Amino acid sequence: MKLLQVVGARPQFVKLAPVSRELARRRAVGSGFDEIIVHTGQHYDAGMSDVFFAELDIPPPTVNLGSGSGLHGAQTARMLEGIERVLIEQRPDVVVVYGDTNSTLAGALAATKLGIPVAHVEAGLRSFNRRMPEELNRVATDHLADLLLAPTAVAMAHLAREGLATRSRRVGDVMQDALQFHLEQARRESRMPGVLGVEPRRYLVATVHRAENTEPDALRRLLPLLAAVGTRALPLVLPLHPRTRAAIAAAGLTELAGPSVRFIDPLPYRDMLRLVEDAALVLTDSGGLQKEAFMLGTPCVTLRGETEWTETVEAGANVIAGLDPDLVLGAVEAFSAAPEALRDALRRAAAGTYGGGTAAARIVDALTQFIAELPSP
Ligand code: UD1
Repeated sequence: MKLLQVVGARPQFVKLAPVSRELARRRAVGSGFDEIIVHTGQHYDAGMSDVFFAELDIPPPTVNLGSGSGLHGAQTARMLEGIERVLIEQRPDVVVVYGDTNSTLAGALAATKLGIPVAHVEAGLRSFNRRMPEELNRVATDHLADLLLAPTAVAMAHLAREGLATRSRRVGDVMQDALQFHLEQARRESRMPGVLGVEPRRYLVATVHRAENTEPDALRRLLPLLAAVGTRALPLVLPLHPRTRAAIAAAGLTELAGPSVRFIDPLPYRDMLRLVEDAALVLTDSGGLQKEAFMLGTPCVTLRGETEWTETVEAGANVIAGLDPDLVLGAVEAFSAAPEALRDALRRAAAGTYGGGTAAARIVDALTQFIAELPSP
C-alpha cells in the first residue's frame, strides 16, 4: 500500500514527523504503508523548512515542487499542477494532508479530482472567520476529504454539524505527540533561553504572521502594543516570520517596536519549545503556538479576535485579546505571574485534551482500516 503525504509549510513538518515515524516503525515490523513525501515548496527558507526535516528526523521529501510564494491563486495553482503530476506518476492508495494551508487545499483538490482518497489530519477546526484564508482552506478540505482525522471533541462536533460525522474519527493531536517526543532532548540540548540573555519566567515570547496582522495598518497598532507590553524587567522576544520581517521593513516601521522588543530569526522546533516552556507568557496569532503553550503550561494571549482552539480558552490557558490594548495589557498583567501549580495543571489538562501522545498511532490505525474497507476497484 502506498501513502503519499503532502506538506509545504513549517507547522506541517511538525505534524508530519510523528506520523512518518509511526509509519516507519510499522514498516520495520513488516506492516503498513510505503511512504512518499511531497513538499510543495510553499516554505523554502532553510530556517523555515530544511532545519525541521533534519531536526525532526523526517525522511527527505521524495519530490519538492518548488512552488514558492505569491498570490493565493497563483501559488495554489502551481501546487495543484505539480501535485497532480506526481499523483499520476505515483498512483498512491491514499493521500494525507495536514492543517489548513494552501498546500493542504492543493493536495486535497488534486487527489480527489483524480479519484484518490484523501485523509485530512487536523480536520474540523473552525474559526468561523471567512476572511482568514486558512478558514476557507479548512472548510474546503474537510468537504473534499474522505477520512477526517479530528484532534478534539470540539472539532468532531463541527464536522457533525456540517454533515460529515460518518467520515470523521477523533484521533487526538499530533502536535502533542511531537512535543512529548522532543521535550526531554530540548531540555538537555537547547541553549534557550539563556543564550538570549534572559532568565526563566522573566521574559515574554511573541509571534505574529497572520495576514490580518501584517497589513501596514495592523502593524502600526501591533508594534507599539508589543513595545508597551515588553518592559526592561520583562523583555519581549519575537522570532520573526519572514512574512512579518518583510512587512515591517516594507512599511518602514522597525523603530515602532522600541528597545524592550528583541527581534530574532525563526527558531528550530526544539529551541522554540524551550523558549516557550520557560517564558512567563506567550503572545501570538498562531494556532499551533496557542496549543503548544497550553501543552507546556505557559499562559497565552491570542492576538486575534477568535480562536479555533477553544479548549485552550475554556481551560484558562488562553485569553482572546485581538490588538485591543486594554485587553492585551490586562491579560498580560493577570497572567504573567502564573503560579507553577497552575502551569502544572494546564500541562496535565492539555495532555488529556489532545490524546497524550497517541495521535500518530491512531491516525495510522484509522488509515489502515479505511483502506481495508475501500471497495475493490
Ligand atoms: C502559511 C499558512 C499559514 C501558516 C503559516 C505558518 C497559508 C494561506 N498560510 O502562511 O496558515 O500558519 O504558513 O508559517 O497557506 N516567506 C519567505 N520564506 C519562506 C516562506 C515564506 O520569505 O520560506 C515569505 C514570503 O515573502 C511570502 C510570505 O512569507 O510571500 C508568506 O508566505 P506564505 O507561504 O504565502 O504564507 P505564510 O504567511 O507563511
